[in-house]
Amino acid sequence: MKILILAAGIGKRMKSKKPKVLHEILEKPMINWVIDNAMNFSNDIGIVLGHELDLIKAKLPKNIKIYEQKEQLGTGHAVMSAIDFLDTGNILILYGDVPLTSKNTIENLIDIHKKENNDATILTVNLDNPFGYGRIIRKNNKFQKIIEHKDANNQELNIKEINSGIAIFNIDKLKYSLNKIDNSNSQKEYYLTDCFNYIKKVGIYISNDINGIKGVNDRVQLSELEKIAKINILEKLMYDGVTIIDPYTTYISPDVKIGKDSIIYPQTYIYGKTYIGEDCIIGPMTRIYDCEIEKGSSIIRSECAKSHIKTNVSIGPFARIRELTVLENNSKVGNFVETKKTILGNNSKASHLTYLGDSEIGSNVNIGAGTITCNYDGKNKHKTIIEDKVFIGSNTSLVAPIKICENSTIAAGSVITKNVDKNSLAFGRARQTVKKGWKPSN
Ligand code: UD1
Ligand code: CA
Repeated sequence: MKILILAAGIGKRMKSKKPKVLHEILEKPMINWVIDNAMNFSNDIGIVLGHELDLIKAKLPKNIKIYEQKEQLGTGHAVMSAIDFLDTGNILILYGDVPLTSKNTIENLIDIHKKENNDATILTVNLDNPFGYGRIIRKNNKFQKIIEHKDANNQELNIKEINSGIAIFNIDKLKYSLNKIDNSNSQKEYYLTDCFNYIKKVGIYISNDINGIKGVNDRVQLSELEKIAKINILEKLMYDGVTIIDPYTTYISPDVKIGKDSIIYPQTYIYGKTYIGEDCIIGPMTRIYDCEIEKGSSIIRSECAKSHIKTNVSIGPFARIRELTVLENNSKVGNFVETKKTILGNNSKASHLTYLGDSEIGSNVNIGAGTITCNYDGKNKHKTIIEDKVFIGSNTSLVAPIKICENSTIAAGSVITKNVDKNSLAFGRARQTVKKGWKPSN
C-alpha cells in the first residue's frame, strides 16, 4: 500500500524558526518517527513538503518521494500537490505531526479497510479533552462528516470522538473527492476531511491507542508526547530485562537496544543508534550517543559519542569519549580523560587526566596521569602510535607524529619529540640539579 505523509505546514503554534516536523522527540525528529513507522508497511512512500523543504529533505531516507506544496492551503490541497503519486489501489495518509502511532494501530486500520471493502476508512479515538481536533459527526450512529474544531458549534464541540488524521483511501475515490472540495470554511483551507463528504462507503476504526494519535501543534504537546514516548520505551526495556533505577530522569531514544541485566542509573541519556550489550552499568549522569557498547562494560558520569566500546571496559567517572574511539576489551579510561579518534588496546589503561587524540595504542599499555598527545600543530592533525606493553610516565607530552615502540618506558615529565625504539627508556626533560646550602639573596 502506498503511504503519503503530509508535512508541509509551517506549524505556526510552535513559534519556531524550525519547521514543526523537525522538532525532536528523544532527539529524533518527529518526521523520522512517522517515516520509520511507515516503512513497516510500505516501501512506496511519498511526502508533501513546503516550508523549509531542503532542511527536511536532508533528514529523509533516499527512497522517499518528495512533492512540493508551494502554498499551504490545507491538508486536502497538500494531497492534491502529490497528485502524481496517486495512481490506483489504496493509499494510507499519515500526518507528519502525529509521531507516536503504534504499528499495531495501523495494522488494524488496514485490516478493517480491506475486510469491510471500504472506499475510505478513518482512524478515530474518543478523547476526554478533544480540544483542537476535528470531531466525528454521526447520524443514527453512522459516519456523516468531520467538522474542524474551528468550524464547530457548541453542540459539536461536546463530541468526544475525534479524527486522528490517519486514514486510508481508495485512490480513485480520493481523486474524485479532491476535485469536489472547496475552501469555504473559517480557515479558508482545502480540508482533506471534507473529502469524506463525497465518498460513499466510509468506514471507521475506533482505536484505543489514545497516545498514538496525539498530534503536536505546540511545545506543550511536544513535551507531553516526549513523556509518553519515553515511558513506552523504558517500560518495554524493563519488561525485556533491563533495570532502570529512575524512569523519571532516564531518557532513551527508540532506536537504542539494551541487553538483559544491564542497569541504567538516574540522569542518563542514551540517544541515536546505540547498542548496549548485557550486564553493562550505565550512569548515573551519563550521556551516550550513537555508540556500540559490549557486554560487561561500565560508564559512570561520562559522555560517549560515535564510539565502539568492547567488553568489560571501564569508563569514568568524568570521562569524555569522543567520535571514532575504540576501547578494546578490558581497557580502562578513568577520570578527566578525553579520547578522540583513538584506539586503546586490550588491557590498556589511561586512568587520570589525559588527552588521547588521533592515537593508536596497543595492548597492556599504561598511560600515566597527565599524558597529552599533542596531535595538532595549528594546521594539521598528526598521529601518535604506542605499541604493546609501553609505559608512559606521568605528565608526558607526546608531540605527534610520533611512534613509541613496544616494551619501552617514557620517564615522567618528558616532552617526547622523536620516535622511541623498542625495549628503550626515553627521557625528555631537564636533569634535576640541587644546590646545597643555597639561600636567596636579598
Ligand atoms: C488536522 C485535521 C483534524 C485532525 C487533526 C489530527 C484537517 C483539515 N484537519 O487538523 O481533523 O483532528 O489534524 O491531528 O485535516 N499540512 C500540509 N499542508 C497544509 C496544511 C497542513 O502539509 O497546507 C500538514 C501539516 O504539516 C501537518 C498535517 O498536515 O503535518 C496536519 O496539519 P495541521 O494544520 O496541524 O492540522 P490540524 O489543525 O491539526
Ligand atoms: Ca496538527
